[in-house]
Amino acid sequence: MKLLPLDKPELIEVAVGWLAREENWKWLDFGDGTHALSAVSLKIMTQRDIHVLRVFTPDDSDTPIGLVALSDVRRQWKTAGSVWVALGPKRYAGYACRAVSKLLTLGFGELGLEAVTAWTVVNNMASRRVIEQLNFRYVGRQRRRHWIDGRPYDRLLYDLLAPEHHEIPDPYAQRPDAASALTPYLAPHPVPERPRPDPGTSLGSA
Ligand SMILES: CC(C)(COP(=O)(O)OP(=O)(O)OC[C@H]1O[C@@H](n2cnc3c(N)ncnc32)[C@H](O)[C@@H]1OP(=O)(O)O)[C@@H](O)C(=O)NCCC(=O)NCCS
Repeated sequence: MKLLPLDKPELIEVAVGWLAREENWKWLDFGDGTHALSAVSLKIMTQRDIHVLRVFTPDDSDTPIGLVALSDVRRQWKTAGSVWVALGPKRYAGYACRAVSKLLTLGFGELGLEAVTAWTVVNNMASRRVIEQLNFRYVGRQRRRHWIDGRPYDRLLYDLLAPEHHEIPDPYAQRPDAASALTPYLAPHPVPERPRPDPGTSLGSA
């Protein structure tokens, strides 16, 4: 799996198509009640330092299958206000967590960030699971902060500090023959299996 820059008009069009689907935009927030981004808006985001956007691929090809992003990046404070992800074709389910993990490595490494915030809508169970697996710490709940189909939902807030991030290794990197070539990607510690919270209850601190 690779992260690729969103640097071609055709890639931007593909990503805009994913974000235009209700199954994706209803969980996200582009400000001012915007449901989906236009190609122009997404292109502008790619040109601004406060966003770091990448498309990700599956393990066996360079086909773009999803979009992962750090937004509200404040380099002077070494923070990113949100990390978010949208999977394009849902038949590729299973890649998002690793894609976010790789982007966090870029953020904490190349960008020198020290803290990254994430949020999710309380009933977005797939997103909650992604955040939990990435070792984010639950830090609070914004009540009635997110609207879907005319109904308010709470948002759960999380953060992650640089020393708490351990990149999820690629599965094929665990084969002995692949290990030496992929050593830079191996996590220093295995990602611990985390208990799943009961749906609908507050997540405890990590
Ligand atoms: C959230 C999303 C990115 C997940 O993509 P994905 O490739 O399926 O993610 P992963 O497989 O890496 O991880 C999802 C985890 O949630 C689990 N999951 C999926 N649906 C679930 C559900 N309804 N209830 C509980 N767990 C669920 C999966 O089993 C997986 O956990 P596992 O690794 O323990 O098996 C994708 O569903 C999506 O694009 N959703 C719309 C946009 C969105 O919600 N973005 C997140 C907000 S930032």
